[in-house]
Amino acid sequence: MTTIDVTLTIPESTTPAPNLCSVHAEEGRRDYGKAAFRGNCSGLLIRDLLKFYGPRNLLDPMQGSGTAGDVARSLSVPYQGFDLSTGFDASDSRSFDGLGGFDMVWLHPPYHDLIKYNNDTRCLSQCDSLPSFCSKLAAVIFNCSRVLTERGVLAVLMGDIVRRGKSYALPFHTWAIANALGLELACPEIIRLSHGATSNAKRYHFPLIPRVHDICFVFRPRRTP
Ligand SMILES: C[S@@+](CC[C@H](N)C(=O)[O-])C[C@H]1O[C@@H](n2cnc3c(N)ncnc32)[C@H](O)[C@@H]1O
Repeated sequence: MTTIDVTLTIPESTTPAPNLCSVHAEEGRRDYGKAAFRGNCSGLLIRDLLKFYGPRNLLDPMQGSGTAGDVARSLSVPYQGFDLSTGFDASDSRSFDGLGGFDMVWLHPPYHDLIKYNNDTRCLSQCDSLPSFCSKLAAVIFNCSRVLTERGVLAVLMGDIVRRGKSYALPFHTWAIANALGLELACPEIIRLSHGATSNAKRYHFPLIPRVHDICFVFRPRRTP
């Protein structure tokens, strides 16, 4: 295993989240969510986004072990969280009936079929092809965008899959889907370094440029210039 230490110097501003820039490199995870939940991510980026955007409330429609909820409670941000495991299908617009007016939605979908979360055919991890995954993801992103307030943002965390040397390019599909749905970036894409991921400790017997990050896009409805 090779380790690289990087020191970043970032511009100062009046931001309430001084460490938040287009590379999220903070190690550790605090007490947010359950590390043992497969596919879980640390809550530190969510914490910084909440500090920066100061939303009046937060929705996570794919909450898994509830990391976003733990972060929201620690910052006293009102939170609603759901998951398919408790019967909420984020790809079905009817699930969102009666919900709405969120200043922030945090969305951390399955990275296609990298981890199978259950046997439910409505689960994004059960999609049997990239096009079917993208079409379900589009439905989820559309549904989330419909419950945003006027100042609302939708943060989507997406990683990638490489199989037999072929990248699925999931973050690029995610951006293209959001763009086609009339969303735009509210800030630079954020490279979230995946400290401690099990894949980082793997050994490959061929030359490889390893992927050690996910990408977080913060979207908002497109504004006219
Ligand atoms: C990457 S995990 C989220 C992990 C989460 N951020 C945490 O803190 O543990 C993806 C989650 O999406 C859920 N999911 C997949 N398809 C769904 C759907 N159609 N509607 C709602 N949740 C879904 C899975 O059950 C899984 O818990």
